[in-house]
Amino acid sequence: MFYSILLQAQTTIVQKDIPLPLPVPEWFLVLILVLMFLVHILFINFMVGGSILTLVYQLLGLRKPDYDKLAYEVAQTITVNKSLAVVMGIAPLLAINTLYTTYFYTANALTGLMWILIIPLVTIAFLLLYAHKFMWHRLENNKLLHISILATSVAIFLFVPLIFLTNVNLMMFPDKWSVVEGFLSALVLPNVFPRYLHFLNACLAASGLLLVWYFGRKDFDFEVKFPSLSRYEIRKNLYTVTFYGSVVQFLVGPIVLITLPTQGLGWNVLTVILTGASIAIVAMVWLWKEITGPVAQFGRHFTKIALTMGVVVLFMGSGRQLYRSNVIDPHRKLVAKKTAEYEKLVKEAQAEALKPKNTETATAAAHPGEAIFQMNCVACHQVNEKLVGPSMVEAAGIYKGNIAGLIGWIKQPGKKREGPAMPAQAHIGDDKIKQVAQWMDGTLNSLC
Ligand code: HEC
Repeated sequence: MFYSILLQAQTTIVQKDIPLPLPVPEWFLVLILVLMFLVHILFINFMVGGSILTLVYQLLGLRKPDYDKLAYEVAQTITVNKSLAVVMGIAPLLAINTLYTTYFYTANALTGLMWILIIPLVTIAFLLLYAHKFMWHRLENNKLLHISILATSVAIFLFVPLIFLTNVNLMMFPDKWSVVEGFLSALVLPNVFPRYLHFLNACLAASGLLLVWYFGRKDFDFEVKFPSLSRYEIRKNLYTVTFYGSVVQFLVGPIVLITLPTQGLGWNVLTVILTGASIAIVAMVWLWKEITGPVAQFGRHFTKIALTMGVVVLFMGSGRQLYRSNVIDPHRKLVAKKTAEYEKLVKEAQAEALKPKNTETATAAAHPGEAIFQMNCVACHQVNEKLVGPSMVEAAGIYKGNIAGLIGWIKQPGKKREGPAMPAQAHIGDDKIKQVAQWMDGTLNSLC
């Protein structure tokens, strides 16, 4: 209630919507948005987390060459994950555009320059990643340069999510639209940074798990490739990354919830989020068992952990969507009202335009003859273009200086052209015929 009053306050911008039907049912778009976004963000997590881990391994590799080789292995996964992340991002982007057109557009426009910058930034980061991957051996003797290339793209990867988060955060809060001035002021809205930390943790946790699997594959000759490293130790460390990443989520998650404006925090959102969190605890217990358990049994909980984490992500993603629709709902109602009012005005204006022109407006014409033309001849003639009959300018030209002839035709037309004949206009009276003929000969002929 309080919120809807707040919304009506002058600071809130209520725009009108585009009154077009959705191309498919709304629930379908929501489904696409939630599911495809999760797939997209999972690969983004792999990409960002993978590039951070590569950087860490490559730095460790300065001392212990096998770590450099390990970094090389991880680097192979980043570009694949990157491509999948980009492709999988298209569907949710289209869905959010269709479902939240005016909200998303407004947020994009308000953070305009930075929003557009995503494209060059991401392009540069991708190119650097490829350069880093393909020049591994060529830059063998110039590690500083090689690592700097990766570090630059990691830095870009760490920055771009901030732009996205700022945007999707801003779109939820129309009451902020009039006070925000560009990207930076939208960036400092209360819950952008907690959400950012939440995202970074997810990147590490997800990538840790992905690499536990990647290095655990049977056909992966770990011992041959990295003689000085233990497969078990590396995988255990990666599990640890996932574990602590998840632990930190339990600290950051509540901060995200607290900093979110409460008007969207319905019971539905809390239930979904808390259920997700409880399931996460189960996964973390298994994780802990893997890390502390006997070497011989290592890996036996992996599938369960991966599946449960997937379910957790599904709950969190749904909670996020529920929050968004809760929080936007009151504003949507205002927009719907405004749109309805606008459509009513449009209809009225259309009806007004379709009304036949009355005498008052007709006599307001510049020459009395023009008014007579408007009343008696427009059904078949236009001033400049052919309609049923020739254009008035053309007709006037035929009778230049021959008003009598023109009057004669109007009273008693002949048959000159193909198509229908012109009906006689004698019924409008000699005076009016004379006036319209004068207008044609005077005004129209002077035009040419
Ligand atoms: C119902 C349709 C209709 C109306 C109303 C009508 N005209 Fe015509 N008019 C025509 C047609 C059709 C022609 C072409 C006739 C032909 O080529 O034989 C024509 C031709 C003309 C010509 C050309 C004559 C020529 O020698 O080529 C003039 C001038 C003209 N109309 C004046 C008027 C004026 C002035 C009015 C109103 C007072 C008017 N018309 C009302 C259908 C109409």
